[in-house]
Amino acid sequence: MNVQGKHYRTIWLKEDQPEVVQIIDQQALPHEFRIVDLTTADEVAHAIKVMTVRGAPLIGASAAFGMYLAALHAPRHSREAFLAHVRVEGDKLVATRPTAVNLAWAVERQLKAMEAASDVETMIETARHTAQAITDEDAEFCRRIGEHGVSLIEDISRRKNGDTVNILTHCNAGWLACVDYGTATAPIYAAFERGLKVHVWVDETRPRNQGASLTAWELGQHGVPHTVIADNVGGHLMQHGMVDMVITGTDRTTYTGDVANKIGTYLKALAAKDNGVPFYVALPSSTFDWNMRDGVKEIPVEERGADEVKYIRGLHNGEVVSVLITPENSPAANYGFDVTPARLVTGLISERGICPATEAGILALYPEHKR
Ligand code: MRU
Repeated sequence: MNVQGKHYRTIWLKEDQPEVVQIIDQQALPHEFRIVDLTTADEVAHAIKVMTVRGAPLIGASAAFGMYLAALHAPRHSREAFLAHVRVEGDKLVATRPTAVNLAWAVERQLKAMEAASDVETMIETARHTAQAITDEDAEFCRRIGEHGVSLIEDISRRKNGDTVNILTHCNAGWLACVDYGTATAPIYAAFERGLKVHVWVDETRPRNQGASLTAWELGQHGVPHTVIADNVGGHLMQHGMVDMVITGTDRTTYTGDVANKIGTYLKALAAKDNGVPFYVALPSSTFDWNMRDGVKEIPVEERGADEVKYIRGLHNGEVVSVLITPENSPAANYGFDVTPARLVTGLISERGICPATEAGILALYPEHKR
């Protein structure tokens, strides 16, 4: 998508230096647009852990490139030594963040592809192609999510005689969380491109404020009208008819339609249900967990450091500073995600279409996963 009018993806191989992966530093946004070079799998793992890159599909794409870098630096004297090395690096990448299933999915896909190759040089080439394929596929899948999801916005716009469609979103499920287009934002960008009047309520998304820092930034870069709101505002807006629909992303969705997403999503879904506001979740198929049935019981929820809750980061006199907002000695808990049960989800928007958040609905779109 656009940054100062120029098209960017979130991850790519450096031109003329294919042994270097480049990413946008999402910790520096929105105050600075900075590109970072990554040259080893360990650097990729660190970038995922500290959230220089984040968002389920982008974590998957980053891990895929991490595996390519692992392959580049693996011992070449034997196939076995090479594979042992990339497996260890793969385990390290998977361990960085537990909730987004895309991470393990991407590492698994890389390992399978490399294992099928006969010699080390071919395995390295395969790892590079697979990373590129995962990245290109994610961009294309998000574009298709936009094509399917825009019909929902068009319907509301028609019902409102062309008046502005107000969409609430949580966290950043935009292009910054993916490779391009985003998941939740893809239908919004598509509607905007078609000239529909849209306006986005952007939840700030404490504690790391991905909504306030990232979603607001990317919508602004693209010219999409939006308003940042504190996390607790959504219910009030829904009660007053100021939200026509909610669209969020997801980090892991069970084959029965339970959705793990950034902490606070569940509360928005409850408020939406109470107010008859449609609640949609957008995802590429890499975010389905085909082995999990009960999201609340089974999806691992990441717990991060207390300082993310206790301190808030922002620009002060031109410098990014961190400010303590709790009593110094108060403990803080930092649950990164919650699970919205399928019964609260109006529908899922994937690259294959829109379906009910039910096992039957999901498997009708993905019959190859029927048991
Ligand atoms: O902790 P984050 O910033 O990685 O969490 C991101 C989210 O919760 C997104 O909504 C989710 O990954 C979907 S991204 C298209």
